[in-house]
Amino acid sequence: MKVLVIGGGAREHALCRSLSLDPDVTALHCAPGNAGIAEVAQLHRVDALDGAAVARLATELEARLVVVGPEAPLVAGVADAVRDAGIACFGPSAEAARLEGSKAFAKDVMAAASVPTGRSYVCTTPEEIDKALDAFGAPFVVKDDGLAAGKGVVVTDDLAAARAHALACGRVVIEEFLDGPEVSLFAITDGRTVLPLRPAQDFKRALDGDEGPNTGGMGAYSPLPWADPKLVDEVLDTVLQPTVDELRRRGTPFSGLLYAGLAITGRGVRVIEFNARFGDPETQVVLARLRTPLAGVLLAAAEGRLADLPELVWRDDAAVTVVVASHNYPDTPRTGDPIEGLADVVAQDAPDAYVLHAGTRLADDGGTVLSAGGRVLSVTATGKDLAQARERAYAAVGRIRLDGSQHRTDIARRAAEAPEA
Ligand code: AMP
Ligand code: GLY
Repeated sequence: MKVLVIGGGAREHALCRSLSLDPDVTALHCAPGNAGIAEVAQLHRVDALDGAAVARLATELEARLVVVGPEAPLVAGVADAVRDAGIACFGPSAEAARLEGSKAFAKDVMAAASVPTGRSYVCTTPEEIDKALDAFGAPFVVKDDGLAAGKGVVVTDDLAAARAHALACGRVVIEEFLDGPEVSLFAITDGRTVLPLRPAQDFKRALDGDEGPNTGGMGAYSPLPWADPKLVDEVLDTVLQPTVDELRRRGTPFSGLLYAGLAITGRGVRVIEFNARFGDPETQVVLARLRTPLAGVLLAAAEGRLADLPELVWRDDAAVTVVVASHNYPDTPRTGDPIEGLADVVAQDAPDAYVLHAGTRLADDGGTVLSAGGRVLSVTATGKDLAQARERAYAAVGRIRLDGSQHRTDIARRAAEAPEA
């Protein structure tokens, strides 16, 4: 089958890598892609937010399946446009993607479906904001209602900072602070059947020890040796299935990837957020462990046939991914620097470690790879356990040279050293 992937980050590179290894995929296209994706897929230029343009490209390419990676095109209705053109699309409708696009909508769905989440208030006036901040006390959790590319959430002990962020947002969700380790659990769904994948953990802060500003994610690992083995079943029963059922009941079924961001609190599992697409960088480690060819699974979801699919098969391996970010990420990342040593990773670590590109592009010389974004690439490695996967990932990171680049050195460290912690 011919497949078109929309997007151009490390998540899309991971998706394209898996799709390129699927014997059922006869042609792989990506728009806009990046320098790494160009090695496994044919790249096209398209405005990813323009549903008509994406549908036209998919039609021209005779794509059997379109996979939409990022949230912005989903919220803009790109999956609707592709489906209207008669092409199967992996990704929810604009209506269903509001689960990610509006925090207030997500809270409403969770309340209707009795899904456990933090108590919250939706506020639009300074009076409402002050009342909500006062009701919860520190630490304050203030979330912009709309899409904000990971920058909409402020968690702080500083009342003035919380208040300033809330006032700047317009419509805002103020929420109780949820304490406990975070888990990302993805599920593939066709709007009825829900197929959870393996859980992963993301590292959101820029610096070691969870210091520094929030980012899009600096690394991830899977499995989670410290987590309760019943966690996935519990989240399926209490979070994923009820949410999918509620959206179907409302006449806006969710088909695609439902991402539950969870806090494992002392009082049980709570949803921190929903996303309507694969997470980045967790996808890199989850797909590294999936043995079942990916295209058939995504197509079955897009065509409403998940119930007929055999169970997913997973590798026993552990996987770790480390994000290499550019100088000054996440503030004002510097771009245009040459990246060296990429071939050394392939030569010396294959097939256990590989580079997934995010913000990269080819220089005009056609050979040099340049940084072109905040998160530049994601080095992913597998191993018999997290310790080995981590060692391989960091060995590969050490071979890559990018002036001024930064990465965390503690991805998966605690989980690898003290699995029961
Ligand atoms: P979000 O954009 O909703 O994923 O939030 C970004 C990050 O903010 C999350 O990964 C958490 O680390 C943190 N966060 C969000 N909501 C809460 C909460 N209610 N309590 C504690 N931390 C939170
Ligand atoms: N890893 C966080 C996200 O994809 O939103």
